[in-house]
Amino acid sequence: MKQCKFLFSLLLLIAVGAKAQLPIIPYPNKVETGKGFFKLTKSAAATAKLIVDPQTTAVASMEGYHLSVTPTAITITAKTKVGAFYGMQTLLQLEAQSKNIPVLEIDDAPAFGYRGLMLDVGRHFMPVSFIKQLLDVMAMQKMNNLHLHLTEDQGWRIEIKKYPKLTRVGSVRGGTLIGKYPGKGNTNAAYGGFYTQAQLKDLVAYAAAKHINIIPEIEMPGHASAAIAAYPELSCFPNEPTQLTKNMYATATENKIKKEGGKIVQESWGVFDDVFAPSEYTFNFIENVLDEVMDIFPSSYIHIGGDECPKTAWKRSSFCQALMKEKGIADEHALQSYFIQRVEKYVNSKGRKIIGWDEILEGGLAPNATVMSWQGEEGGITAAKQHHDVIMTPQGTCYLNFYQSSDSRDSIAFGGFLPLEAVYNYNPIPAALTAQEATYIKGVQGNLWTEYIANKDLASFMLYPRAMAIAENGWTKTKTGFDHFTNRVTMWQPILKQKGLHFSDHLYNVQITSKPTAGGIHVSIGGVGAAHKIVYTTNGKLPSVQDQQYTGPITINGDANLQAGVVVNNKITDVASASFSINKATGANLSELTNAPKAPYNKSGNNGFINGIVANDSRFSDGEWLAWEGKDIEATLSFAAPTSISKISTRFYNSRGSWIHLPTSVEVLGSEDGKTFTRLGLLQNLDNSKEGAVTVLFEIKATTVQYMKLVAHPVTMIPAGFAGAGNPSWLFMDELIVK
Ligand code: ACM
Repeated sequence: MKQCKFLFSLLLLIAVGAKAQLPIIPYPNKVETGKGFFKLTKSAAATAKLIVDPQTTAVASMEGYHLSVTPTAITITAKTKVGAFYGMQTLLQLEAQSKNIPVLEIDDAPAFGYRGLMLDVGRHFMPVSFIKQLLDVMAMQKMNNLHLHLTEDQGWRIEIKKYPKLTRVGSVRGGTLIGKYPGKGNTNAAYGGFYTQAQLKDLVAYAAAKHINIIPEIEMPGHASAAIAAYPELSCFPNEPTQLTKNMYATATENKIKKEGGKIVQESWGVFDDVFAPSEYTFNFIENVLDEVMDIFPSSYIHIGGDECPKTAWKRSSFCQALMKEKGIADEHALQSYFIQRVEKYVNSKGRKIIGWDEILEGGLAPNATVMSWQGEEGGITAAKQHHDVIMTPQGTCYLNFYQSSDSRDSIAFGGFLPLEAVYNYNPIPAALTAQEATYIKGVQGNLWTEYIANKDLASFMLYPRAMAIAENGWTKTKTGFDHFTNRVTMWQPILKQKGLHFSDHLYNVQITSKPTAGGIHVSIGGVGAAHKIVYTTNGKLPSVQDQQYTGPITINGDANLQAGVVVNNKITDVASASFSINKATGANLSELTNAPKAPYNKSGNNGFINGIVANDSRFSDGEWLAWEGKDIEATLSFAAPTSISKISTRFYNSRGSWIHLPTSVEVLGSEDGKTFTRLGLLQNLDNSKEGAVTVLFEIKATTVQYMKLVAHPVTMIPAGFAGAGNPSWLFMDELIVK
C-alpha cells in the first residue's frame, strides 16, 4: 500500500513537472492526473454519475465540484446543482478534445461569485440567436452573469408595453456615423431593432438553464437620447431640438430637425447633454418601465447605468434649480445622487438591488448599491472601503471593444489597446485594499461596447479569446501562466468554430523595439512565448511560415518596413509591423526634455520620437505615438558633431473626439552652444480639417547646428462644443525626422 502511494505520487510529480495541459478554460484550481483513460462509448453526459449532496464533505464551496475519472468510472460530486453543472462543463471540455478522458481528480471552485460579460445592444443590435451562442460558451467557461446594456442614446432595445413609442420611435435611428468618430459621413439609412418581452423571457429561461443570470441595464439619467426622442417630456427642455455633435456630417435627419425642430435618436457616438429631468413625470416613467423590466428579468441585480451624465441641462434648468433649493440639494452631483437614490428605493421596495457604473459614487452612494468600477480601479476601491459590493471592470484591462492587436488589418475599434496578455494578467483585487475590504470585490466582468462593432461576427471576434481570460480571472485562484493559457486557447478554438462563433487568432502582443547604434538601429522582436517561432520580412510584405526566422536583434540601416508574425499551428498570427526612418535625428542625444510624455502613451520612452520607428498611421495607441496632456513639448537634441539641417518634419495626431488636438504652434530652433537658440521656423494655424496623422514640415535654408530644439504648444483649454470642453487637450507626436 505504501509503495503504491509512492508510485502514484511519482506519477503525479511527472504530470506536474510537465505542467499538464488539459484543454480546460478556466483552468481548475486543483488537478491531479493519473495514468490511463476512461474510454467513452456513449456521451460524457450519459456516462458520468452525478452526485448532488448538500452534506458532502468532498466539496467545500456551493459552486464547487469534484470530478473523478478512473479507467472504469466518471463521477462528479457537488453540494448543489450548479456545482454539478460546472463539473459537467469541465468534462464536456475534455470530451470535446477526445473520447479518451484522462484519469484524473479535479477539485474546483471559483475565485469570485460573479463572473460576467456585458454586451451593448444599444449602439448595435445583436440577434437573439447570437446571444444564445454566447450563453452556450459562457456556460462552458463557468461564467454566470450576462449584463445586457439595453438602452442608449442610439437606440432603445426592449419592448415596454406601457410606452410603445420607446420601441416604435426610440429603437430606430435615421442613420449611423461612418468610420471613427467624428467620422467620414453618415449612412443615412434607418437602423433599428428591439427585443420583444417574449423573446427576452425566452432568453432568460435559456440562460437560467445554464445557470446564467441576465442583468438588464436601463440607462439613467444620461445616455437617454432614444427615450427622450420617444417621450420628449423626459427632458428638461422638451421643446429644444436634439443637440447634435459638433463636426457631425449633415444627415437627412439633421437637416430635417434644423427645419422642423424636435428630438431624434442619436446617429453619432459620444456623450450628450440632453438627459432625464429629475421630475415626477420621469420617476413615474422609470418606475413603470422598471416594473415591466423586473417582470421579465428575475435578476436580483437591476443595472441603472448612472455613467457619463453631463450636468449642463440641470444647471440651466429653472425646474432643477428650484428642486435643488426645495430639497436642500447642494449641487448637480448631489442631484445625480438624489436621482439614483430615489430609483434605488423603488427597486429595493420590489426586493431587488441596484448596480450602477462608478459615477453613482458622485454626490454620495445610494445605501445598498453595488458599484461597477469602469474608469479604473478607483471607483471600486472607494466603494469597497465604504463597504459596498463591487464588480471590477476597469477599462484598461476589461474593455473588450479596445484593439486587441497591432495588426493594421483589423477593423477599427475603440481607442485603447488591450492585448490578450493584459487581460489575462489582470487581478480583480486592487492592491490598495485590505483583506477585509477585498471581500467586497464580488467579481469581474468584460465589457463589449459596440460603437464600432456593427455585427455579431465582429462582436465575437472581439470577445474571443479575450473573454476567456476574463472567465479565467473570475474562476482560477492560482493562475498557470500566459503560455499555459494560450496553449489552452488554441485547443479551444475548434470548439468555438464548431459552435459557429468567430474568434480572433491574436494571442500575442508582438513588440518591435529599437536601439539606435552607430551602424544603424538594432531592432528586437519580443512579447511572444519562447515556444513559438517568429518570422519576418523587411520589405513590407506579410510574412509566411517560410520567411526568415527571428533569432536575435536585426540591424536596420535605411528606410524599411518590418512585418513580423508568430507561427502557431503552422499559421501566421499576430502580425505586427514597424516602419523605420533612419535620419539625422535617429539616436541623437536628447539633452533636454522639459515635460516627459504621459503614461500610457510613453511606452517607447522619452526618446521614442528619435528611435527610428515611425508610428502607425491610424492608431494613436500603438506605443510609438508619444503624448503630452496639456503640456508643452520642448525637446532639445544634441548631435554628435555639427550637423547641417534643411528639412525637419514630424506628425501630430488629430482626433478631437478623443481630446487630441493639433498644437497651436510648432517651432524649430538651432544653436551652436546649447545656450543661445535661433528660430529656424515657426508654423501656426495647422490645417485640422483632416482627422488622424497630420504632417508638419519645415523646409529651411541649410544651417549647421550642434543643437536643435523643437517646441509645440497644446490647446490649453478645449473649446466649447468639442469632447472634453474646458479641459486641456492632449498632444500626440510621432517620429522627428531631420534631413
Ligand atoms: C462606460 O464605459 N461609460 C461605462
